Amino acid sequence: MDFSVESPDVGHRKTQYTIKTKNVSYVVSPTSCKFGWIFQKKVNPTLKKQILRDVNCEVKPGEITAIAGPSGAGKTTLLEVLAGVIPPCRVSGHVLVNDRPMTPTVFRRVSGYVTQEDLLFPLLTVEETLLYSARLRLHGGIDNSKARVQELLAELGLCHVAGERIGGGSHRGISGGEKRRVSIGVDLVHNPSVLLMDEPTSGLDSGAALQVISMLKSMAENHQKTIVLTIHQPGFRILELFDQIMLLADGTMVHHGSLDSLDHRLKSAGHHISRQVNVLEFSIDVIETLIPESKTFDLIEPKREPESDCIIQDCHLQYANSPFTEITILSERFAYNIFRTKQLFVAKIFQASLVGILLGTIFQNIKQFQMQTQIGFFAFNLTFLLYSSSEALPIFLQERRILMRETSIGAYRVSSYSIANTLVFIPFLFIVALLYTTPTYWLVGLRAKLDGFSQFLLIVWLVLLMSNSFVACFSALVPNFMIGISVVAGLMGSFFLFSGYFISKNDIPKYWIFMHHLSLFRYPFECFLLNEFGGSQGRWRCVERFDGGCLVSGEDFLKKENLKEVQKWYNLGMMLVFIIGYRFLSLLVLSYRSYRSRN
Ligand SMILES: Nc1ncnc2c1ncn2[C@@H]1O[C@H](COP(=O)(O)OP(=O)(O)OP(=O)(O)O)[C@@H](O)[C@H]1O
Ligand SMILES: [Mg+2]
Repeated sequence: MDFSVESPDVGHRKTQYTIKTKNVSYVVSPTSCKFGWIFQKKVNPTLKKQILRDVNCEVKPGEITAIAGPSGAGKTTLLEVLAGVIPPCRVSGHVLVNDRPMTPTVFRRVSGYVTQEDLLFPLLTVEETLLYSARLRLHGGIDNSKARVQELLAELGLCHVAGERIGGGSHRGISGGEKRRVSIGVDLVHNPSVLLMDEPTSGLDSGAALQVISMLKSMAENHQKTIVLTIHQPGFRILELFDQIMLLADGTMVHHGSLDSLDHRLKSAGHHISRQVNVLEFSIDVIETLIPESKTFDLIEPKREPESDCIIQDCHLQYANSPFTEITILSERFAYNIFRTKQLFVAKIFQASLVGILLGTIFQNIKQFQMQTQIGFFAFNLTFLLYSSSEALPIFLQERRILMRETSIGAYRVSSYSIANTLVFIPFLFIVALLYTTPTYWLVGLRAKLDGFSQFLLIVWLVLLMSNSFVACFSALVPNFMIGISVVAGLMGSFFLFSGYFISKNDIPKYWIFMHHLSLFRYPFECFLLNEFGGSQGRWRCVERFDGGCLVSGEDFLKKENLKEVQKWYNLGMMLVFIIGYRFLSLLVLSYRSYRSRN
């Protein structure tokens, strides 16, 4: 498909788009498997479900087309076909854009698709939300993006809440109608010529719904945009704003035309409609009495593109920004989100300082000669540090949904997201490590030397980064929070078991030894021991006394544990390998997910 893809720059004269479908049918196979996106099993053909049946339709520029029908009729599915979210290669029949077969990856960049669910960052303000979206999708730098955002705020009637946070969950933010308009705005920043929306008015009162549809109507008329939306029970005044109505019943097109023609059809089918009755609602009530339309539109019979129309060729698609700019914008947005997430930032800072002081006071008196207690301290220390990172799981999962949406429309590269996410956590976790280590190290009375302290700090920092990368990796893999938290906790538990603390390395059965090598506890645990009982100071330290004499020195202890000085650097290196490895794995999984969501 080579319809022109314009620069999204504002003020440019835009191409107008007409989208047509010819005999489109869509069949799905049920997937019960949670990991269905990884495993593609052959399914019994009798379990297949037909959602769309021979649908012919046409949506034109300058018009609002509403798709209506009972619940489960296939409205969202048809909208997804028209938006290219369900690519043409997965439906039978033809999907044409300006009489040429649709190329979904290209089409999704010139169009905007607003899902029924508002996928927004609750802690960003309305203006910030639109500005980040604009910066990621528009050429011309931040000034151009700012100008576009001001224009959008005015157009969407959001100027009065520009500085307010979106809100969600326990944070009360802007109203539902305002949130819907922000969602629409996010998909309007690049000034698309086609806008497709799934139930833009659901959850809104009649006044707010009318406001949204009126705004869309003026956009369609003034900018010749092609607007398609699905709707449930629109009021009288909203109904009048629609140019075309498509009525679906069980995946079949029952009516496609104006409201007047629907009224006419109902009357000719023998129905009497009183003036107080909403024609659309009435038609849905009596939908089984309407004979499906066999309307076709003058289509130039398109050549079916070869199978290759399913193969995504991202290489020739241009991103608005360079990878470096993308990383800068995404890091900034992520940093804002973290610093404003009280559960993560403030709680983590408090938790680190408080637990650091508490642990320090609990273990304060062990000092020397109580080796087992000191080793117990290292083990507990690690348990706390590794488990505390699972708090980031819901944040990663929330981000993932937005990431999938944004990368599927070509806003930025998945790799930029992964790098930005890692970069933001590096300084943040250093602050956490410093706040935790400072009281703990000195109160517990570990080796009182600056080099010992700084190495302890380095180990703690790497432990935090390692567990954070581990959580990032599993948040990319798992389907939801419940499974995510079970997998993370289960694996952490087994890492602890195989760390060498409960059962020494030599006693672990051979077929389980791989778990010892994979254990996130093992490497930092050994580092803690080497930092405390190794080096020129630790080596000669008496760690266990008997009858006034020294029974075990630091050196003896390390020998017994089979630990050599050089292992400290090897272990630190292994921790780095885990950090990079888990991050890389998470990048691979996210890239695959993003690829699948585009297909
Ligand atoms: N991927 C899928 N796998 C299995 N069934 C599906 C899939 N997508 C849609 N369906 C089914 O197809 C039917 C139509 O779904 P669709 O979401 O398009 O309906 P809808 O008209 O938008 O309904 P609503 O008004 O409730 O939003 C539903 O019965 C739905 O369960
Ligand atoms: Mg729907």
